[in-house]
Amino acid sequence: MPRFELGENGAHISWAGTSYVLGVLGQGHLVHGYFGPELARADLTHLVRPVGVSYLPSLPIDREELAAFARLWGPLPGSVAGAAMPRPVYSPDLLPLEFPGFGAGPLRIPACLIRAEDGTFATRFVFREQRLVDGAPGPEGLPWVREIPGAVAARTLQVDLVDECTGALVTLSYVPVPGIPVLLRWARITNTGTKAFQVEQMCSASFDLPGAELDLVTLNGSWARERTIHRRPLAPGLQQVESRDGSSSREHSPWIALCEPRAGERDGNVWSLSLMYSGNHVHRVEVDPHGSARVQAGINPFAFAATIAPGDTFDTPAAALTFSADGFGGLSANYHRFVREALLPPRWRDRDRPVVINSWEAYYFDVTPAKLVDLARLGAEVGAELLVLDDGWFKGRHDDTTSLGDWTPDPGKFPEGLGPVADAVGGAGLAFGIWIEPEMVSPDSDLYRAHPDWVLSVPGRPSTQARNQLVLDMANPEVVEYLFGVFSDLLSSANITYVKWDMNRKMSEVGSPSTGDQGTVAHRYMLGVYSLLGRLTERFPEVLFEGCAGGGGRFDLGMLAYTPQYWTSDQTDAVERQRIQRGTTLFAPPETIGAHVSAVPNHQVGRVTPALTRGLTAVGFNFGFELDLAGENAEDRKVYAGISALYKRHRALFRRGRFYRYLPEDVAGESVAAGVPRPVAGGGRCAWGFVAPDKGSALVFAFQAVAGANSDGGFVRVWGLDESAVYRDVERDMPFDPVFLRERGFWIPPSAGDYQARYWILEREE
Ligand code: GLA
Repeated sequence: MPRFELGENGAHISWAGTSYVLGVLGQGHLVHGYFGPELARADLTHLVRPVGVSYLPSLPIDREELAAFARLWGPLPGSVAGAAMPRPVYSPDLLPLEFPGFGAGPLRIPACLIRAEDGTFATRFVFREQRLVDGAPGPEGLPWVREIPGAVAARTLQVDLVDECTGALVTLSYVPVPGIPVLLRWARITNTGTKAFQVEQMCSASFDLPGAELDLVTLNGSWARERTIHRRPLAPGLQQVESRDGSSSREHSPWIALCEPRAGERDGNVWSLSLMYSGNHVHRVEVDPHGSARVQAGINPFAFAATIAPGDTFDTPAAALTFSADGFGGLSANYHRFVREALLPPRWRDRDRPVVINSWEAYYFDVTPAKLVDLARLGAEVGAELLVLDDGWFKGRHDDTTSLGDWTPDPGKFPEGLGPVADAVGGAGLAFGIWIEPEMVSPDSDLYRAHPDWVLSVPGRPSTQARNQLVLDMANPEVVEYLFGVFSDLLSSANITYVKWDMNRKMSEVGSPSTGDQGTVAHRYMLGVYSLLGRLTERFPEVLFEGCAGGGGRFDLGMLAYTPQYWTSDQTDAVERQRIQRGTTLFAPPETIGAHVSAVPNHQVGRVTPALTRGLTAVGFNFGFELDLAGENAEDRKVYAGISALYKRHRALFRRGRFYRYLPEDVAGESVAAGVPRPVAGGGRCAWGFVAPDKGSALVFAFQAVAGANSDGGFVRVWGLDESAVYRDVERDMPFDPVFLRERGFWIPPSAGDYQARYWILEREE
């Protein structure tokens, strides 16, 4: 049960081994006190860093103020380098403000920037009140938790801050997720004044960590190179990752972590925050000259401005914050539990995911009923359970130049519609699913010809095309309503049990011809997407939705609130995939991470890897196939069937077990530069594993990219097992002491040939 202690000087939230502390200073400044391992009691006097003395704008302080300051900060800094100070200064810029404004004292990066109606910027937020409310009310129309564990116990701390001048009232919400060391934060701004103002930036969460001797870890990449781990020491000034393309992007994931330099997979303090949002985001850290690191996440303020009329409100998306004293392994475990137990659509949380066979890399646009039925038949032989008809099935779609928006089956390819194909695939023993790209339209389509005004556009400017397509104006409720009708009809037209929801281009000319405030179009676009996703997933609760965005763009905590699984990357090469999947597991649990076995030579990099390596790279994740099985030899097909069987035998363990990244152990940064050959970090070795919740069994996988000459092989250390027991390596029938595995590990023999993989199945001996 989360515990809340509310006092005159602040608040202390403690839950799941974690504490979060807020303080209120005499002048009404709300400051961040602490975020870390659980405290028995929070005494603000000891928590906030002593500040240096500043010559920056300072406020006059009276006796009472001085007393409050002294209480909070301990002895006043009376001297600098031995020199007596003329008077103590209370500089709001030095305070670890919890939700800083700008222009009325504080000068560091603000959480909220308001332009008053007269064009001035001078916002000073003053604490007004804090209260506890039952339950966990979330931001309007944005991704949020549903049916969270211990929901009865869920309570929210709300803190009101007011800027007298503009009448801006900010309500900060804090929801500690019961039993899970994750804190959800979001904010609402209400105009209680008499004049409109503009919000030019508004974070979901902001807090200061004392001492900037930390590393910053981010997930970066590009198409086919998503979520490569990048690690560097914090430097003075601002450092940030952001997206401006209308999505949370493949380039910079909406996720960051800060850690002690010594932090690795097993040890060290790590803090992280991640937006539950799929649009333009910023995740940033500003290090001030006194070594304080201000950490923030929010909608990207770049090219954003929301006009708030008197009486109106604006909600930020939520951010999920977590702390772990057990390094990145502990951090990921926190996020995985949060996603599994509180974020995924409740219906899919504890359900096995089907083994997919997808038509994309098998046939690309050239799909026909006969080929699909063939693929289903061969798919059944290798253990597939669901056939996905990818791009190319709808009216006139033979390549990527036409037809997005016309979501009826192509009469040439599917003269009798999708029903008979779905039934024939069902006859082969597989369920049937389809690919759609709802948010897009091709200029060459009936939809665009009928509604040229339904695309994002700016008057007087030609619309830029990408992949020959334009972006529908999802900020327009009429468009959302239309799409709801179209996809409701489509999903009712045949026995369709799965949908792959794609989004293949970056936005340009982001204007909404028919709707208001143009400074919020990209954000209202996302509200439209969430509304459509929410309505469709509610209307078709039995349909499994998988997210996708030109590979693994927009793979974030926002989409996972609606789509219980996500296509990780169009990169299907096993070696490249090991790096991408590893990075993705920093926040996403394995069963959400789409991973398919594809053909060799690989279609993206031309690499030839053994069937077993391709299989073992994908198994354990959201497992499937993506290749023309008719082109595969009997031997490889046998390997594929074996991998499917392995997956099915251990599916519950993969879905429920704790996931560990075993190699490399240090969470080192990897190069993200284009064109740099990157066989996984750590000398080309990579390993991960799954340990059952009761630790009764475990599976460990290890991969070696390149063979070394005259090598002794290496070891993969394995932890997380029950150290009071002995385990048996089932395949090799050998006993292993878990302490030995933790300290020394499994031996990886020198490999004969590149791209080798092995696995160990461990059972605890009774
Ligand atoms: C995107 C997806 C692919 C495939 C194609 C179809 O690139 O990531 O998996 O669906 O679109 O056009």
